[in-house]
Amino acid sequence: MDIKIKKGKIEEESAEAIVLCHFENEKSLPDETAAVDRALKGQIRMLVSSGEFTGKANQMVLLHLRGEIPAKRALVVGLGPKKEFTTEKIRQAMGPAGRRIREAGVKSFSTPLHGRGVNGITTAESAQAIVEGCLLGLYQFTPYRTEKREELRELDQITLVDRTEGKIAEVAGGSRNGQILAEATNYVRDLCNHPSNVVTPTRLAEEAQSIAREFGLTCRVIEKEEAESLGMGAFLGVARGSLEPPKFIILEYSGGKKKEPPVVLVGKSITFDSGGISIKPAEKMEQMKTDMSGGAAVLGTMKALAQLKLPVSVVGILPATENMPSGSAVKPGDVVRAMSGKTIEVINTDAEGRMVLADALAYAARYKPAAVVDLATLTGACVVALGNHATGVMGTSPKLIERLKKAGEHSGERVWELPLWEEYREQIKSDVADMKNVGGRGAGAITAAAFLQKFVGDFPWVHLDIAGTSWNDEARPYAPKGATGVGVRLLIQWLTENSRGRG
Ligand code: BES
Ligand code: ZN
Ligand code: ZN
Repeated sequence: MDIKIKKGKIEEESAEAIVLCHFENEKSLPDETAAVDRALKGQIRMLVSSGEFTGKANQMVLLHLRGEIPAKRALVVGLGPKKEFTTEKIRQAMGPAGRRIREAGVKSFSTPLHGRGVNGITTAESAQAIVEGCLLGLYQFTPYRTEKREELRELDQITLVDRTEGKIAEVAGGSRNGQILAEATNYVRDLCNHPSNVVTPTRLAEEAQSIAREFGLTCRVIEKEEAESLGMGAFLGVARGSLEPPKFIILEYSGGKKKEPPVVLVGKSITFDSGGISIKPAEKMEQMKTDMSGGAAVLGTMKALAQLKLPVSVVGILPATENMPSGSAVKPGDVVRAMSGKTIEVINTDAEGRMVLADALAYAARYKPAAVVDLATLTGACVVALGNHATGVMGTSPKLIERLKKAGEHSGERVWELPLWEEYREQIKSDVADMKNVGGRGAGAITAAAFLQKFVGDFPWVHLDIAGTSWNDEARPYAPKGATGVGVRLLIQWLTENSRGRG
């Protein structure tokens, strides 16, 4: 996608289409819309006064113009009530707007900076939200479609037009952020939407290596033999049933000061979760190709970080393997020894995410990290608790949890805290080993986190359960059905605040 920035007036823009907006039930049109409306002799006002267009969120009207202004079409979108207006509303309006224009067979459009100045939204924030919403909303996953490819439509160009003197650099900055974040998110979506016969642990390692090459990061892949000598018995226990070689992937970005301890991001990277010997029911098992969403989010975040050149040091760790049943698979009742030396009784081989994370979290301690955040499609229980609208968050640092919650509000990838009280640890006590890998019926998302906590060293740690937020059964304004690419926008928002010393 080509994104252009231009100083100029939207009513003078010669474009295939322009996008205008209106707030719900406001008497007057926003300035840019009003400027076009005057040139159109009140055509937009008429739509509003007739009651046909109220400005309700997600309302859209496409006008064909007849030479009153150079633009051929004007798409007017509703932004909802002014009082409730946020950048999320811009993203939610621009996703459908971009798709509407693409459906019309149009390849490009121009847009002013919607919502700038309303409720304190800056020029850069508006530009970012417009580009982000649009690029995310236009995402489509089509590599395996061989029929009727000629019917696929593509939008090639967006132009942000601003008449204000001295604001162009700010528009360009915001737009660039939006593009980097959306493209990294769409990269994560691709990795998760591809089937597990394509995105194998080996492929994830190749992706990490190619990010490292392209952006000058350091990548190291620990193979099975080395993992054995490191004593990663929890990670390797999960890998035992699979014919795909496991890969323990490490990607390092050093944007911070030399001696500054890094942030470590750990992403669950089960490229297919069949459940293992405790096999899952057939229904929806295909969705378990996305059980590497955490790892993919870490890769996308590393990519975005490097492009944004954020002044922070971040290490990404992806314990990547399949979870398969076979004659060599780990069995219920087996005891494995994790890298930390602790022993785990495997009650249910489908609780494999916490096993691979146990060794990854132990490995993270080597960096003496400033903070560790893990992302994992860890539990169905988290989906039951929060549905698809919030990522579950638990951890040892209330400050870090608070910051992630804030970053979630701002980025539109919301997180909600569940309690990690020590009483929950009772549920994972084992009769034969240091712990067991499941905690019984109650509080499944929390007992999973309580398990992880046993492998967390002396550093602030936060766990994000993205089981509910990594996949959409139904399309959303700026996320189609399928993988959502959750995580990148949340983590970059937090890391950006962090790098400004406000994180
Ligand atoms: N990958 C699943 C969790 C999951 C469920 C992700 C639904 C996305 C959607 C995880 O490995 C798993 O199977 N968890 C079990 C744990 C149980 C055996 C304690 C679960 O949640 O049922
Ligand atoms: Zn599982
Ligand atoms: Zn899993």
